[in-house]
Amino acid sequence: MTHPCDMLVFGGTGDLALHKLLPALYHLHRDRLLPADLRIVALARQPLGRDAYRALAERRCRAQVARTSFQAETWQSFAERIDYFAMDASQSAHYGRLARHLDNAGPRGRIHYLATAPSLFEDIAACLANAGLAGSDARIVLEKPIGHSLASALAINQSIGQVFQESQVFRIDHYLGKETVQNLMALRFANALFEPLWRAGHIDHVQISACETLGVENRGSYYDHAGAMRDMLQNHLLQLLCLVAMEAPVRFDAEAVRNEKVKILEALKPIAGLDVKDRTVRGQYAAGKIGGQEVPAYYFEKNVDNDSDTATKVSVPGYLEEDNANPQSDTETFVALRTEVRNWRWAGVPFYLRTGKRLARKCSEIIIQFKPVPHRLFQDGQANRLRIRLQPEESISLQLMAKSPGKGMHLAPVELDLNLAHAFRQKRRWDAYERLLLDVIEGDSTLFMRRDEVEAAWRWVDPIIGGWHAYYQRPRPYPAGSWGPEQAHSLLEQQGHAWHE
Ligand code: BG6
Repeated sequence: MTHPCDMLVFGGTGDLALHKLLPALYHLHRDRLLPADLRIVALARQPLGRDAYRALAERRCRAQVARTSFQAETWQSFAERIDYFAMDASQSAHYGRLARHLDNAGPRGRIHYLATAPSLFEDIAACLANAGLAGSDARIVLEKPIGHSLASALAINQSIGQVFQESQVFRIDHYLGKETVQNLMALRFANALFEPLWRAGHIDHVQISACETLGVENRGSYYDHAGAMRDMLQNHLLQLLCLVAMEAPVRFDAEAVRNEKVKILEALKPIAGLDVKDRTVRGQYAAGKIGGQEVPAYYFEKNVDNDSDTATKVSVPGYLEEDNANPQSDTETFVALRTEVRNWRWAGVPFYLRTGKRLARKCSEIIIQFKPVPHRLFQDGQANRLRIRLQPEESISLQLMAKSPGKGMHLAPVELDLNLAHAFRQKRRWDAYERLLLDVIEGDSTLFMRRDEVEAAWRWVDPIIGGWHAYYQRPRPYPAGSWGPEQAHSLLEQQGHAWHE
């Protein structure tokens, strides 16, 4: 932005704003990466004053930001940037007041961050235009999911397009801001080593998993209408698939990268009608026990398990028993599916996608499973495997076969570990939102979804959801703390494969 700028955060008292956006902006401020004159204006219905909002934001950021990196003095200077304006974003009359509140001498750039339900996107864009807050210098950031179907995504894109040029629209998918995801592009397109092997002739199959131990937390009303398909697979997992499968773009810029991703989405083998029974698995978590770093502290307080073997595990309710849940809900909290990319490079290679809540471990990773050697010389042998891990730690590792030390010719798999945290030890790990917010401020949309990408993703997802309505209404229960329904394993076993766990 060339002149002073306001970032307006709609949904300013929501979890996304308080847990992700403000901590990310705080870090950017601390590292002196924010423009000096950037003002952050949080907008929400709660009748709070600016100081009360700053106090709320401080409490939530303290809880989010690692203790070592929260500094009271830095917070004070950061808080100077924060303003709060109470309004109902669905009421056009409130935007005149907002415009007057914002009005400063001289021109100001505007970034409108819509951290709200997608059902508000169209109204907000229209109201911003009426209030003169959507000039050619403004940018709008939309959180995924963009709509809940192809029709609603088309309607949103159409309304947004009437107010903003495509270059002003930033559709965010925070997975694209993760360091390892960008490293996937570096690995593929800055190293000559992998490219000749990156194709059907050498790759047996690909697995993309985003497994969480969290449940729906306090997002039940949103989640019950979305489910794992709309919340995770339609966006995060398909974006990862695109980056694994796409051709090398001619340049590393927004248009060239997104052109290649769209081609992959358009080449996905459709899953429709009865196919959903063979090629997808829907699950919903039942009560069970979970453990691990991501379990929120309050579970331990109210629900500690007495069994000494599972002392670090806690009992958690099933999806249908969560607070305020609809006890009849048929929303899926787990999806696994098998697809293919129907093009010259990938013909016949299965791509398995899997995501779920309340699984055994938090782990997001991409597995590229290579084919075995054409002729076996040794007794032991496993095919090579490349693992690109996004979380909990960021790493890339290649499994090779090596001779075990000592007598005889016994082979064992060993990991060639490209641990990014070790390789760049001195560098702080950036949160995805830090990178993406900075890109919005700088106007770089390479890591954001273009309109046609979002629509192509829905075009592929809609028939799956339609098939579920017709043939697969009830998701299969799986115990919290497991790896999902048994059928998710059979999905791979039928092809002679297994999930990497
Ligand atoms: C969000 C989903 O987009 O991604 C959440 O709405 C999910 O349901 C989250 O928990 C997972 O993100 P991450 O970065 O923790 O894998």
